[in-house]
Amino acid sequence: MRPKFIAGNWKMYTSLGSAKDLAAAVAAGVAAAPGVTVAVCPPFPWLNPVHGALAGSPVLLGGQNCHYENEGAFTGEVAPVMLKEAGCDLVILGHSERRHGMGETNDVLNKKVKAALVAGLKVIFCIGELLAEREGNATEAILDKQLTAGLAGLTAAQMANVVLAYEPVWAIGTGKVATPDQAQAAHAFIRGKIKSQFDAATADAIVIQYGGSVKADNAATLLHLPDVDGALVGGASLKADSFLAIVKAGVR
Ligand code: PGA
Repeated sequence: MRPKFIAGNWKMYTSLGSAKDLAAAVAAGVAAAPGVTVAVCPPFPWLNPVHGALAGSPVLLGGQNCHYENEGAFTGEVAPVMLKEAGCDLVILGHSERRHGMGETNDVLNKKVKAALVAGLKVIFCIGELLAEREGNATEAILDKQLTAGLAGLTAAQMANVVLAYEPVWAIGTGKVATPDQAQAAHAFIRGKIKSQFDAATADAIVIQYGGSVKADNAATLLHLPDVDGALVGGASLKADSFLAIVKAGVR
């Protein structure tokens, strides 16, 4: 059975003090959710202090992005090995705010995924369609393309360290959550695609999170759909109470 995995994407929110407090509260609360894997992904400057605040807890630490080179003249960028050294277990790649806001392409993301895995990080690889793409019945074609190109050249063994996050762009930060039928259909499609791109065992094992306006009051319904294995949570991850309520909704 696939483990449930709930990750909080803090985006460009929190102060140093609130980040450490939030991490400590999450660390203290996860014991009430046995069997659920939990991660928090703070802004870069808070990674190492949050790593300290999480010490001794099972909560994983993640970055929200990284470059595909390990060093160089790349002003403003952060290397996968730097995330690793700052205490990260994982990195979010391909978030829609980076694809659509920062122009990250599937080809660049493919390089980032490979570099992060080589650096020993797990990857939460985000995919999802825009509203116009859904309305134009292009959802499956978009997901297919993002997976084909984004995961090109990876081995099945490497896929053991990849988690997918299906985040319909129209549901992110909008309060508009996908219906259970929409979420399940997309997740089942994604799992089928992983089977054809890799193999049946990889498809069966891969954790696929749902993201987009996940809140305490809709988490249980989403998290118990057959092909939904967790959640990538933005807004509701910024308060320990609402995030821990989502984490607890993942308990079987
Ligand atoms: P949201 O963000 O929960 O605020 O919709 C999700 C995400 O961007 O990962």
